[in-house]
Amino acid sequence: MRADAGPAAAAVLRLEGRDVGTAAADLLHTVIASTPRPVIGVATGGSPSPLYRELAARGGDYRAVTWFALDEYLGLPAGHPQSYAEVLRRELIDPLGLDPRTVHLPDPHSADPHDAAARYEQRIADAGGVDLQILGIGRNGHLAFNEPGAALDSRTRVETLTEDTRQANRRFFPTLEEVPTRCITQGLGTILSARRLLLLAQGAAKAEALHRALTGPVSADCPASVLQLHGDVTVLADAEAAALLP
Ligand code: PGA
Repeated sequence: MRADAGPAAAAVLRLEGRDVGTAAADLLHTVIASTPRPVIGVATGGSPSPLYRELAARGGDYRAVTWFALDEYLGLPAGHPQSYAEVLRRELIDPLGLDPRTVHLPDPHSADPHDAAARYEQRIADAGGVDLQILGIGRNGHLAFNEPGAALDSRTRVETLTEDTRQANRRFFPTLEEVPTRCITQGLGTILSARRLLLLAQGAAKAEALHRALTGPVSADCPASVLQLHGDVTVLADAEAAALLP
């Protein structure tokens, strides 16, 4: 189904929760099969989990693929189970049998994280840019860790997490105090540079943010509204997340 939403309408598909993973895996495999040296941007968090489970169940040959994470926490010790390097190892690298050297993340242990952010942006460019970027959406409308107020043309940089985001990610940590306060995140401009975007959204907590992102004004108040500026966006949402869409 195609829903006219915003200046450049996204293709919005309403699916059962389990089917989000199936449809996302279909799209990812289509991109990989049609691209000689595919570059896939990967998200972490709950939203992409059905996709990664489906990819693991299907198997496949990913030797030609280069992967780039959206973001990484600052301040966690190396090997922390909630660092995105470890999350991607558990959810993607090990289950799919990927060569870890093909999976890139910002370096959170650099003496100069600002420099690490700039180098990461350059690595994405050097790889030829992202062919398919997988995204979740925050309940405050954030995209990666681009929180409300982020510049629409921002590039990879050091950012501070909002309290709302720290509360949302609290479920992955023993206490709120242990949720990092800073990160390196791809910018909104970086994300918009990907040739194709795939947003996954599940659950009622995402309904308002998804509605604002796709039908509201393009504004830093809702960073995910930049999706309206991109010409090739697919949104896979379950009924709860899509409840407020036209
Ligand atoms: P979630 O987070 O996938 O864990 O819901 C998405 C986000 O905050 O961007």
